[in-house]
Parts: sequence; structure tokens; C-alpha cells
Amino acid sequence: MKARIAGVGSKIPEKIVTNNDLTKTVDTSDEWIKTRTGIAERRVSDEKTATSDLAIAAAQKALASAKISPEEIDLIIVGTTSPDYLFPSIACILQNKLGAKNAAAFDVSAACSGFNYALTVGSNFIENKTYKNVLVVGADTLTKYLDWHDRGTCILFGDGAGAVVLTAADDGSGILASWLKAEGHLGHHLIMPGGGSRDPEEKKGRFITMDGKEVFKFAVRVLEESIAEVLKKANIELKDVNLFIPHQANIRIIDHVAKKMGLPKEKVYVNLQKYGNTSAASIPLALDEALADGKIKNNDIIVLSGFGAGLTCGANVIKWRI
Ligand code: UT7
Repeated sequence: MKARIAGVGSKIPEKIVTNNDLTKTVDTSDEWIKTRTGIAERRVSDEKTATSDLAIAAAQKALASAKISPEEIDLIIVGTTSPDYLFPSIACILQNKLGAKNAAAFDVSAACSGFNYALTVGSNFIENKTYKNVLVVGADTLTKYLDWHDRGTCILFGDGAGAVVLTAADDGSGILASWLKAEGHLGHHLIMPGGGSRDPEEKKGRFITMDGKEVFKFAVRVLEESIAEVLKKANIELKDVNLFIPHQANIRIIDHVAKKMGLPKEKVYVNLQKYGNTSAASIPLALDEALADGKIKNNDIIVLSGFGAGLTCGANVIKWRI
């Protein structure tokens, strides 16, 4: 038994912030941001919008595309590091608002790797026959945790949500293999120091603090490693993959890995120019757009691969059938 993706949905906020908009608050330029990251603009949620609001909209679209009712969902897993509250989880907020009255619900905290982690957990519950239908969401509003005067971080991130419905399949399609990894000893390179139990009064600041160069080095290393390892587990050769959907953080990270591994450009999906790094939402948002763009057809082999705070990384190989 495998977990097949039966439906996909995504949601982004309306408001667009361009690179030129950022030049009003930090010493940067459209040219620097585009050359060093590939990002042209990002979506930023307003004060009234919390992460769960984006997550619900994405989840409703995924349920509609899977033609599955909320009552049929057995489990909801949300990958996020910007939950509405420390508790209850976003997954429980979704369970209530969607009317998924038969579902268990919990969040997974793996930052930008959150979607690959949540997808792996969800698919295991299906493979071991505990559950039949699992809703997996990646959602973040990291723009709420940016120091808009720190040009090393505020140019990178945007908000969004993406969701998939996993359902049990025994026709050879679905998630063929998953690979997850953590390197906790590097965790200090990407951290939100304030707001947790070590600093509940947020004296250290409730802002993303990052050593961009160190994260970059980690990213290029593990993106390659995760793709190679997950394909080895699935017993699939690199040349047989139809589409790679990497975490959308920086075009230089993606290009570096694509060049090193010999991945043809047309097989690597990129939409970070429009959204920046939307953290746990980046991969399902890209998956939804790739589908809408007609880049995925039945029986294609798709690799989702990403990295993030923790530091963490993860990948999933999917034989597509919807
Ligand atoms: O999901 C994981 C999230 N994190 C990441 O993916 C981050 C990975 N890292 C990166 O994407 C890159 O390291 C950054 C985009 C953050 C920075 O790019 P970089 O090429 O590593 O730049 P740098 O930090 O080495 O800085 C080069 C120069 C410095 O000036 P000097 O010292 O050479 O005079 C910086 O002060 O660029 C300067 N700089 C900027 N200039 C204009 C740094 N940020 C900016 C900026 N605008 N926004």
C-alpha cells in the first residue's frame, strides 16, 4: 500500500512587495536581490491574516480537487514554524474549521523542510494501514517574524500555504520513497531566539536570525545528498526523473545543485521569483503551480526536496497519478 496524492491546493496573500519596495527600508537594490537570489517579489499577509487562514484556503482547494469530504479525512498534519498560537496547533484549528470531525490532528516543526517531513509522516500512516486519507499542509507567514531593517533576511521570505490530500493506493503510484535528515549541531545558523520557553518575554527578539553563508553551504550539500539518497531508496535513476521540485529559497542554490548533478534546466521547477522563500509552503505551492502549468502528467516521477532550520532536510519521490 502506498500514499497517493489525490488533490493539491494552495493559497497566497494578495499583497505584493517588490524588491524596489524594500529599497525604502534597507540599503539594497532590485539588481542585487535578483542576481544574488533570483527573487523579484514576494507576497505578504496583512495583520488580520494568520497562518491558519492561508492553510484553510489551501486545504479546501486540495479537498475539492481530491473530491474528498472533510469527514473522510482521518488525519491532518501541518508543517509550520509560524503557528497562530503555541497551542492549539494549526492542524487542530483546521480540523475544527474544515469540519473534519473524524480526524486526528498535529503540527510538525521542521521549518522549510516541514512539508517533506509532514508528507513522510502522513504517507507512513497510510502505508502501515492506520489511516486511509491524510491531509498534509505546509503553511508559513514568516514575514511576520522578519526584521525589516536586516537586509540579510528581509529580502528572502514571503507568505503562503500549500496542501495535498493523501489517499491509499495499491496501483503502483504514490510516494515511492522518503528520506529525512537533521543536523542539529548547525541549528544556531538559522534561529528565532525569542518567544520560546528560553525567552518567553522575547528579550532576545522575535526575529529570524541567520548566517546566510552557512545555510547556503548546508543547502547545496544536502539538496544534492537528499536527491541522491531518496532516489537510491526508490531504486530510480536520476535520468528517469521527470520533474524536480526543490525548496524555493535561492536560485543560486538550485542552479548550483542542478549543474553539479547534471539536471537539465527544463526538469527543475522554479517559481521563487514570484514568491521568495515561503518556508513550508514553498514545495506544495510549486507543486500546485507545476500541475496548473501542465508540467506533470500521470506516471511521471517527481522528486520533492528541501532544507531548512534545524538544520533539517528531506525528500520524497512520487510516481504521479491523480
Ligand atoms: O530555507 C532556508 C532559508 N535560508 C536560506 O536559504 C539562506 C541561504 N543563503 C543565501 O541565500 C545567501 O547567503 C544570501 C542571499 C542570504 C546572501 O547572499 P551572499 O551571496 O551569501 O551574500 P553575503 O552575505 O556574502 O554578502 C555579500 C555582500 C556583503 O557586502 P560586503 O561585505 O562584501 O561589502 C553584504 O553586506 O553583499 C552585502 N549584502 C547586500 N547588499 C545589498 C548582503 N545582503 C544584501 C542586500 N542588498 N540585501
